[in-house]
Amino acid sequence: VRTDLPTVAVVRLARTKEQQVRIGILGTGTLAAGLGAGWSRAGHEVVVAGRSAGKARALADRLGTGVRAATPAEAVAGAGAVLLAVAWEGVEDILRLAVPLAGAVLIDPTNPVEHGVGVVRVAGGGSAAERIAELTPGARVVKAFHLFPADRWTDPPAGEPPVTVAMCGDDPDALRVAGELVRAVGAVPAVLGPLHRARQLEEVAGFVIGLAFAGVDPNAAIPRVPTPVAG
Ligand SMILES: NC(=O)c1ccc[n+]([C@@H]2O[C@H](COP(=O)([O-])OP(=O)(O)OC[C@H]3O[C@@H](n4cnc5c(N)ncnc54)[C@H](OP(=O)(O)O)[C@@H]3O)[C@@H](O)[C@H]2O)c1
Repeated sequence: VRTDLPTVAVVRLARTKEQQVRIGILGTGTLAAGLGAGWSRAGHEVVVAGRSAGKARALADRLGTGVRAATPAEAVAGAGAVLLAVAWEGVEDILRLAVPLAGAVLIDPTNPVEHGVGVVRVAGGGSAAERIAELTPGARVVKAFHLFPADRWTDPPAGEPPVTVAMCGDDPDALRVAGELVRAVGAVPAVLGPLHRARQLEEVAGFVIGLAFAGVDPNAAIPRVPTPVAG
């Protein structure tokens, strides 16, 4: 913070810095591109990384200002949040490269589902999010961003109200950070419960995928329930 500036300007600079999160994105595919674009547009610093350094560089070039490429270990070092945007089958491989993750806010948007069918398959049962938490001791895992297609964050339909991103996690501060990153892309965060409920969120994605691939509108298969007034 520069101290030779008038007080008001100093305060504004300090707040801007405080609100900016450095986000490490593991993965260089469709979701990495969508959320990377949304978060950099919102003024956050985005570092992208994957098993292919070339793909990470190409994505950073495509996303432009405020986005740079790094190795997985560099992307997670000191990051305020890490997005695990890889195919479920690649999670263990990328986590071996992205160390250390202890203490990190680790956002899990993965869908461990059978393509086009929607059956959730996690070896040993439970959820992908809980499996990721087992693989990353000390990381603060939040399940979020698994339900909406990536283009929701780059090209939201005009005139529609903001969508809700339902999340699960055990760490209140990690849920707060993830919630801020939900707001940064124009959505509203909602906490369903602790991480042990993540399987329920993952099954919702399987439900949506299963019906959509069968040619049925999943939105039409959910009742409109009146929302009770909070408090
Ligand atoms: N796309 C969406 O709209 C969307 C929405 C919500 C949630 N998701 C979830 O987000 C995750 C990423 O989806 P996506 O659509 O971005 O997929 P994608 O475009 O196919 O990209 C997949 C990413 O995973 C990486 N990967 C695959 N196997 C790997 C391995 N063994 N080791 C390291 N990296 C590996 C790929 O690296 P290479 O390019 O080097 O193969 C690529 O960076 C998935 O779990 C998906 O279910 C996607």
